[in-house]
Amino acid sequence: MIITEISVDGYEQVVRGQDVATGLDAYIAIHNTNLGPALGGCRYLSYKSEEEQLNDTLRLAKGMTYKNALAGLELGGGKATINAWSATKTPNLWQAFAGLVNNLYGKYRTSGDFGTTMDDLQEIKKHTDFVCGHDAKEDSGVATAYALFKSIQALSKFLYGTRSLKGRTIAVQGLGKVGKRLIEFCSKEEVKFIVTDTDRNRLKRQPEDPTYHPYIDIEYVEPDKIYDVECDIFSPCAIGGILNNDTIPKLQCKGIAGGANNQLKSDVHAESLKERNIYYVPDYLANCGGVIIVDKENGNNLIDLSYKVPIVRERLNKVYDTVTEVLKESKKTNQTTIQICNEIAEKRFTPQ
Ligand code: NAI
Repeated sequence: MIITEISVDGYEQVVRGQDVATGLDAYIAIHNTNLGPALGGCRYLSYKSEEEQLNDTLRLAKGMTYKNALAGLELGGGKATINAWSATKTPNLWQAFAGLVNNLYGKYRTSGDFGTTMDDLQEIKKHTDFVCGHDAKEDSGVATAYALFKSIQALSKFLYGTRSLKGRTIAVQGLGKVGKRLIEFCSKEEVKFIVTDTDRNRLKRQPEDPTYHPYIDIEYVEPDKIYDVECDIFSPCAIGGILNNDTIPKLQCKGIAGGANNQLKSDVHAESLKERNIYYVPDYLANCGGVIIVDKENGNNLIDLSYKVPIVRERLNKVYDTVTEVLKESKKTNQTTIQICNEIAEKRFTPQ
């Protein structure tokens, strides 16, 4: 394998690994390790160009530094990408990728992301210790949804003076691993839901589904109608870029907290939401539950725990306090919640 070091301002280390035999073309970016080894998943995606892949790796790695710091973890931020155009998933591919990870001597720890499955992680684990998520107790959507539930409670307390969601209307976009669990956590509180999903099968939940939960008060709308519905809180749990010039003027909610990554089309849209007096819990705070389940084992290896484990629960519950702090500070200083979150994270990972 050919390993090339790439110098990028603001990043501790960036490497590209190319292996002709397996078709591996991977980038690993380590943004910051002041708090601990850089943790971030491996994305397996078709990229059209080297530039596109490198930029995606850099953006995601930096995002992980902020997410891990905000989540209160002793972990830095990094990310890996593999270009799916050139590389078919084979045991040899994962072995080659693990070799690239090993070459960073534990400074970067990999895990799952878009396009990588638990089976892939188990292959990687055969060749490196610097991986987690391969023997997860449950999919990370449960912990992500739980921390999101805490974020929504904090948003409710801030907006309406009570953390109870009783009588609130919550609009949920996407009923996947995160969205459906969010509904389960909230539904104990007599919430009215308005939901949508592009996959109609997700709307018709069957009692034989092991995660079936009888929805009490739930209304379905077409995917493009979810932005227009009158609700207290909007929770995007599907795709990125959905808070933009087209959708923001339509919104009829007072607050937003969702599981989806990169909800804002750009940071400018945080300003647009503020102008409309809509309080936005940044995605990388609201959806940090998935990284919170990671813990250190034997002082070095990282493992995944269940969201039910007390130490994990404690961290997940703290998301409530962080969201409260961010919202209050935003109101006080008139800065966007993104600016406040970034400041809190930077204070944590920048040596004083
Ligand atoms: P998932 O793939 O299980 O569910 C996504 C759901 O959204 C699917 O049911 C899909 O049909 C639906 N969907 C896609 N496009 C849509 C649209 N335009 N309108 C309405 N519905 C649409 O994914 P999962 O795990 O629930 O994740 C949801 C989001 O949260 C993703 O953006 C993911 O990157 C992010 N996230 C997930 C974490 C996790 O632990 N699962 C952790 C952090 C972020």
